[in-house]
Amino acid sequence: MCGIVGYVGYQNAVDILLDGLKHLEYRGYDSSGIALMSNGEIKVYKALGKLQNLVDTMKKEKITSCNTGIGHIRWATHGLPTLANAHPHSCNCKGLTLVHNGIIENYQEIKETLIKNGAIFKSQTDTEVAAQLIAFEYGKTNDLVQAVSSAVSKLKGAWAFCVMHKNEPETIVATRKNAPLLIGAGENENFLSSDIAAIIKYTKKAIYLNDGQITKISKDKIQIFNEDLTPASNRMEILPFEAHSLSKMGYKHFMLKEIHEQPDVVRNILQDKIKDEISDIALNGVNLDINSLKKINRIQIIACGTSLHAGLVGKYVIEDLTGIPVSVEASSEYIYRRSIADENTLVIGISQSGETADTITAIKQVKEKGAHVLIITNRKESLLSRLSDSLFHINAGIEVSVAATKSYTAQLVSIYLLGIFIAQTLNMDKKRIQEIKHELLTLPSKLEAVLSGELTIKKLAKKYSGFKNFIFIARGINYPTALEGALKLKEISYINATGYPAGELKHGPIAMLDETMPVLAILNKGIVYDKVMSNCEEAYARQAKLIGVANEIDERHKELFDDFVIIPPVSDIVSPALNVTVLQLFAYFIAEYLGKDVDQPRNLAKSVTVE
Ligand code: G6P
Repeated sequence: MCGIVGYVGYQNAVDILLDGLKHLEYRGYDSSGIALMSNGEIKVYKALGKLQNLVDTMKKEKITSCNTGIGHIRWATHGLPTLANAHPHSCNCKGLTLVHNGIIENYQEIKETLIKNGAIFKSQTDTEVAAQLIAFEYGKTNDLVQAVSSAVSKLKGAWAFCVMHKNEPETIVATRKNAPLLIGAGENENFLSSDIAAIIKYTKKAIYLNDGQITKISKDKIQIFNEDLTPASNRMEILPFEAHSLSKMGYKHFMLKEIHEQPDVVRNILQDKIKDEISDIALNGVNLDINSLKKINRIQIIACGTSLHAGLVGKYVIEDLTGIPVSVEASSEYIYRRSIADENTLVIGISQSGETADTITAIKQVKEKGAHVLIITNRKESLLSRLSDSLFHINAGIEVSVAATKSYTAQLVSIYLLGIFIAQTLNMDKKRIQEIKHELLTLPSKLEAVLSGELTIKKLAKKYSGFKNFIFIARGINYPTALEGALKLKEISYINATGYPAGELKHGPIAMLDETMPVLAILNKGIVYDKVMSNCEEAYARQAKLIGVANEIDERHKELFDDFVIIPPVSDIVSPALNVTVLQLFAYFIAEYLGKDVDQPRNLAKSVTVE
């Protein structure tokens, strides 16, 4: 995690770096810092806590004449969030300064060697070790590119570095391995960043560095070197995102704006893929034909967090439509056991960021076993995309709020489309496929109907905001919806919420039920409606407060519920994409009512680039 940014040009570096960091806050926000180089000297400024503290510090400094610098926003991995551990980190003589995103696994042994050579360490970080090591190597060659190259050859782990040396004015050297870093190419100015969000305002031209490559940028020159220091010529790409994605557009929080974008996000994905209910759908980027699909005897879905919940829905959808067995597992669990993936396995990696370290490691493992890797992501330029044999770009637009909302709905829709695509290619039940297409085409207007009823959910959220624990129950394809709704509430309001398959309530959790434990039940009209209703009866009998999310509630059952939210009728299979919106809004309004930092919840980061 952590965000890094670098700038060399003609503008005030302080403004560019702080603005860039503002757009990287989703990557971490324990502390922040910038280093500025001018007149053969490097000065470092740091602040604890939110970026605003660094902004306030820099206002007092009133620096306007510096055009070269690097910046960092931290999500602590090694060492507490203290000023000493905040980046940038420097070598002992302060001639060299760097910022880092990633983890250096062998930093302890390198640190011991450096200490023997006289280095004195001021922080507990792995990053300071890299600063001292590069400075040590610089002492041998007086060339920053060479020093970075020989230093990183001794490191194990993952990193993106931006490095400045006072002897190399108006220049930044940067490199990456298993952590994102791109170069933004401007007119008389160049940028470095871990994400396009930091630089999109200034340039739409970007060059992505491959693993192991090193770049040296000045205001009018970009040089790229391969790992062996031979010159490289990487392709220039035009960045996709519009700056308006980075504005709240009048909403109080990005999360609320992004929840409201969901109908359009769904329309956008469907637009060029489903023409009507009859015609076959086309998925550009999915390189699976009838012959390759006939070979597939199992599908494994690997993901983390909210993407994992999308994967759980995927199991129901793909098994229902294709009959192919699907297993779903958290990437972090998948990595450390024997994988049975082989060339007859389709592995689907789901990740909104395309950067999640655990998912990247798991995908690298299954590639070695010959599995076909299909990645569903919101970042087609990400590391995971580059590892894919097939790519499904969900195209949800940049998501700023740490808590994923529109990217989740877009992942769900992508999974429906993928299920349909596999089923149609294998000539399966046409009628069923047509029904689901119809449901998908009507989903955007149903989402709009749910959003137009947000006031009811807001009132409900206020009423329930004082409770300390919640249980969310559902059955079948909405069990993952219960998990996702509970996760949203935990993430942004810090209220304990647990998702359960409703049938499991009586096997343990029922012991906790009384009037202090509200139960939120998802009750779509469909095959499990009566079963979930029986579980609601059990909860009612234990005095639990009951909230129902349903298409309708029968008269005879109404008295069970303290409150309900009625949503448009929807088929069982597509219902998760509609129900989740209610739970997103419920979590949002509780957190907002409690005055929580909705877009940047404590301890979380949007891209988790460490295992
Ligand atoms: C972090 C985020 C979650 C996200 C998870 C997986 O934990 O806070 O919102 O679901 O990472 O991220 P990915 O980018 O792989 O979907």
